[in-house]
Amino acid sequence: MRLDVITIFPEYLEPLNVSLVGKARARGQLDVRVHDLRDWTHDRHNTVDDSPYGGGPGMVMKPEPWGEALDAVIESGADDARPTLVVPTPSGVPFTQQLAVELSERPWLVFTPARYEGIDRRVMAEYGERFDVREVSIGDYVLAGGEAPVLVMVEAIARLLPGVLGNAESHRDDSFAPGAMADLLEGPVYTKPPEWRGHGIPDVLISGHHGKIARWRRDEAFRRTTANRPDLIERADPASFDKKDREILAALGWAELPDGRFGRPGQAVEQ
Ligand SMILES: C[S@@+](CC[C@H](N)C(=O)[O-])C[C@H]1O[C@@H](n2cnc3c(N)ncnc32)[C@H](O)[C@@H]1O
Repeated sequence: MRLDVITIFPEYLEPLNVSLVGKARARGQLDVRVHDLRDWTHDRHNTVDDSPYGGGPGMVMKPEPWGEALDAVIESGADDARPTLVVPTPSGVPFTQQLAVELSERPWLVFTPARYEGIDRRVMAEYGERFDVREVSIGDYVLAGGEAPVLVMVEAIARLLPGVLGNAESHRDDSFAPGAMADLLEGPVYTKPPEWRGHGIPDVLISGHHGKIARWRRDEAFRRTTANRPDLIERADPASFDKKDREILAALGWAELPDGRFGRPGQAVEQ
C-alpha cells in the first residue's frame, strides 16, 4: 500500500518510522511518502494561509499550494493509479474500525492534514470531481492540526494489512472488529503470573475449555459495553445476538424492544 502525507510539519510524521508502521515500511509492505506543502509555494515567506472571506478570526489554507502539491503527488503514480484522498477534519464522518477496514483495502491513500481553520473548500470540490475524497474526523473535539489524526488513522489502517501484525488473527476479536464484535468492546485480558498483588485471574481462563473461555470472553464484552458504551448495544443488529447473548443481556438489565432492538427499561432509546 502507498501512503502520501502532505503537511507543513513533515517532522510531526516521524513516528511513522517507529514500531509496527516503521517495521512494515522497512519490510516494503508500506510505501510512506511525506511531503512539505511549502515546497509548492512561490513567495519569499512560503505562505500557505490567508484571511478568511467573510471575515472572522483565524486563517484559511490557500488553495494554490494544495492544488500544486496534490497534482504533483497524483502525477507521481502510475498512469492508471487513482488515490483515495483522506482529509482529516472535525466536520468529517467519524473514523471507525469499519472505515479503517475499507481504507485498508485501497492501494493508495493521500492524506491532507491541515492547520489554521482548514483548507479552502474549493480544493476538495475540485478533487472530488475526479477522485474519491473522504473527509474524516477522529472524534468530537478540535485539535490544532491534522497530523495527529493522520498518525491515528495510519496506525489503525496499517495493522489491518496482511502480514503487518505477527498474528493475522489478532484483530479478529478486537473491539469493533467487523463481524461478531462489530458493536462490542473487548473484555479484560490477563497474562502470567496467575496471582499479582493478591489479584487472581478468572478460573475459566485456565480451565483449558475453549468453548467456556469463548463464552466467558463474550459475556465480559457485553458487561464492558453495557458499562462504557451502552449506545453500541442500542444500535446493534439484534440478529447478531445468539441465545446466550440474549441471556447475558437480560441479566444486565436489557430487554428486547418491539422493533427487535435492545434497550434498558426506564431509559429513553434514541430512534
Ligand atoms: C483547528 S482545526 C480546524 C477546525 C475547524 N475550524 C472546525 O471547527 O471544524 C485545524 C485542522 O486540524 C485537523 N483536525 C482538528 N481536529 C480534528 C479532528 N477531530 N479530526 C480530524 N482532524 C482534525 C484538521 O485537519 C483541521 O483542518
